[in-house]
Amino acid sequence: MEATAKAHTNIALIKYWGKRDEALILPTNNSLSLTLDGFFTTTRVAFKEDLTEDVFYLNDNAETGTALQRVQKFLDLVRRLAGKHIYAKVESTNAVPTAAGFASSASGFAALSAAASKAIGLDLTDQELSRLTRQGSGSACRSIYGGFVEWQQGSKQDGSDSYAVQIAPKDYWDVRVAAVVLSDKSKTVSSREGMTRTVSTSPFFDAWVKSIPADLANIKDAIAAKDFEAVGEIAEANCMRMHATTLSAKPPFMYWQDATVSVMQVVQAMRKEGIAAYFTIDAGPNLKILYLPDDEAAILQKLRDIPGVQSVIASKPGQGITYL
Ligand code: DP6
Repeated sequence: MEATAKAHTNIALIKYWGKRDEALILPTNNSLSLTLDGFFTTTRVAFKEDLTEDVFYLNDNAETGTALQRVQKFLDLVRRLAGKHIYAKVESTNAVPTAAGFASSASGFAALSAAASKAIGLDLTDQELSRLTRQGSGSACRSIYGGFVEWQQGSKQDGSDSYAVQIAPKDYWDVRVAAVVLSDKSKTVSSREGMTRTVSTSPFFDAWVKSIPADLANIKDAIAAKDFEAVGEIAEANCMRMHATTLSAKPPFMYWQDATVSVMQVVQAMRKEGIAAYFTIDAGPNLKILYLPDDEAAILQKLRDIPGVQSVIASKPGQGITYL
């Protein structure tokens, strides 16, 4: 009763920001992402009769507290689905520099979900796996698939129609993403907490939700037409609108640091010089820059030269879940 799975992280171009059901992790809007090759989690799950509770090792460290509890809670769902009462040893290795500000929970829960469901003998379709994974961490349901992926929010109260689908596979279009890691690491509000506060207090939240259908329709047209400028413009504007909801929450909060704004301005200046680069930012200070392969050398150099930038890690589109 053991299995090992590998999952890549993903970057949202249209953000998931807001839950309509916190327990089931049901979002207030559809989101759309690109799975990334450069950042992944490998997880081995072994269910064993002699264990009296679940244990979780992350990069060889025995985890306790919230990290362990989230894994245990998720394994409870897997056990319920399989109708089996047996505990597991979970061993994860993160090739996602946590500092890179990627939701490492996306690759983490996708790999856990795939390995645990296989180890316990569930034979899930990708759609069933995505729906299960969603309940560990919302953004993780998109990491089941490679390439461009849409999480359909669904309309049912039980969440049965809330899962991700693939829009285009990883080899469809070589769009690159550079993760810009900043030196100053002050603690930020977690995405989970940030979302909750925004939904309940930001007067801009309704406008955010109402703005999503047009963004989605337009970005899907742009992906179909391989219109990079359109994809970048839509993604950058969507990111700004998400962050506007945090600025308008009560109490307000902000994920950006000085260097975040410096990088935003350099990216916008690059466009004035004719280099097609666009940024997006999740629930933290680091940025992800979208560009095409021909501009890679020039863009990486310019990003690395910005004061306050610690490192820049480039990635290609990545694949979905694989079993090792
Ligand atoms: C800003 O998936 O980490 O990265 O569902 O509470 O686990 P939970 O949240 P999480 O939120 C990700 C938010 C985001 C945008 C996105 O990835 O779509």
